[in-house]
Amino acid sequence: MTGSYDGGTAGFSDKISSLAPALQAVAAEGSSVGLPNPCYMEADAWMLERETVFAKHWAGLGFTADIAKPGDCHPIDFLGQPLLMVRDKKGRARVFHNVCRHRGMLLVEKAGPSKGVLRCRYHSWAYDLEGRLKRTPYIGGPHEDTHPDFDPNCYGLAEVRAHEWLGVVWINLDGRAPAFEEANAKILERWREFAGAPLTHTGDDCRLQFELGTNWKLAIENYCEAYHLPWVHPALNSYSRIEDHYNIVEPGNFSGQGTTVYNPLLSPDGRKFPALSGLSSMWDAGAEYVSLYPNVMLGVHRDHCYAIVVLPDGPTRCRERLSLYYFDEAVRDPDYAELRATNQRTWEQVFVEDVFAVEGMQKGRASPGFDGGVFTPVMDPPTRCFHVWAAETMLEGPRPPEGLRAAAE
Ligand code: FES
Ligand SMILES: [Fe+2]
Repeated sequence: MTGSYDGGTAGFSDKISSLAPALQAVAAEGSSVGLPNPCYMEADAWMLERETVFAKHWAGLGFTADIAKPGDCHPIDFLGQPLLMVRDKKGRARVFHNVCRHRGMLLVEKAGPSKGVLRCRYHSWAYDLEGRLKRTPYIGGPHEDTHPDFDPNCYGLAEVRAHEWLGVVWINLDGRAPAFEEANAKILERWREFAGAPLTHTGDDCRLQFELGTNWKLAIENYCEAYHLPWVHPALNSYSRIEDHYNIVEPGNFSGQGTTVYNPLLSPDGRKFPALSGLSSMWDAGAEYVSLYPNVMLGVHRDHCYAIVVLPDGPTRCRERLSLYYFDEAVRDPDYAELRATNQRTWEQVFVEDVFAVEGMQKGRASPGFDGGVFTPVMDPPTRCFHVWAAETMLEGPRPPEGLRAAAE
């Protein structure tokens, strides 16, 4: 099945041309200026981002823990589009457009187990976990569930390319990005010691969520840098100081920071989370934090990792969803409950401390007295790296999507 939908590419040349001079200034070699205010405020720029920085790359949609067991479903509004994460019978994560192929009814409204059938509440068409249309009751008239002119194989759910890595379900909306392993070869190589790590998610004490009055990019940008550490995170900075941090800059892909001083949590009775086995000595006291473009913030440590998926809600708001993962099933033991809660609280405090900054920068974007600001040469290269990537991706414009892929094909 193919669709003639053009992905909304018509009219984008106007949007790009009005922003182009500012985007070119950001992307220019040696430039130190950031993205202009309209990129944080205006619907046109936001629409352009949707079809470029989000649609052309592997973006974070949700978590493997959202669909832990075969049959689990998790609907998500992604940039205004209803999508559905499903774990199929073979245990593979799949993502579908969350819409019935008959009359376009929203298919699944609530997260939860599905018993293997995705049934539309309108006329009761039913799809299996692989997206195939399996039942079309009364399609040929009362009590006639087939019709010779209707081939259900042509009306499976429209599927989105999906991949699982480090506890995140990643999607490529336009279907044309290189394979995930190719597109993200550099981070996979950098963190190869964490490849295939067993990930243990213990439920609500492994989750956090924040609603933010800011453009999604400011959340990502703030995560790229350690510059703000002494003033925004004084507790963190008291043991992992700004001078213990180094920049991570991988043009066109990810940026962030690492620290050489990571102290694993210790409970009053001397308990620690088990470390991932086989790690090299750099992870004894090291940890790294990167924004993988466009919208996922990752952190890895010897004893746990986390991912934050930033879900934009228009140009001026976003939601952050965080999942923590440990590397050993032993942490499920009730003896670890307090330590798990302490770890969750510790990260929550860090991320809450950032809220005034990302919301304050959004308010500042309403000022004609701000013109994109300035990236300083030592502390801001990771943030600039993200801006250059975003500007270049928007300037390239959208790609026509490869056409809707029906699951039955
Ligand atoms: S819209 Fe879903 S069965 Fe009719
Ligand atoms: Fe911060």
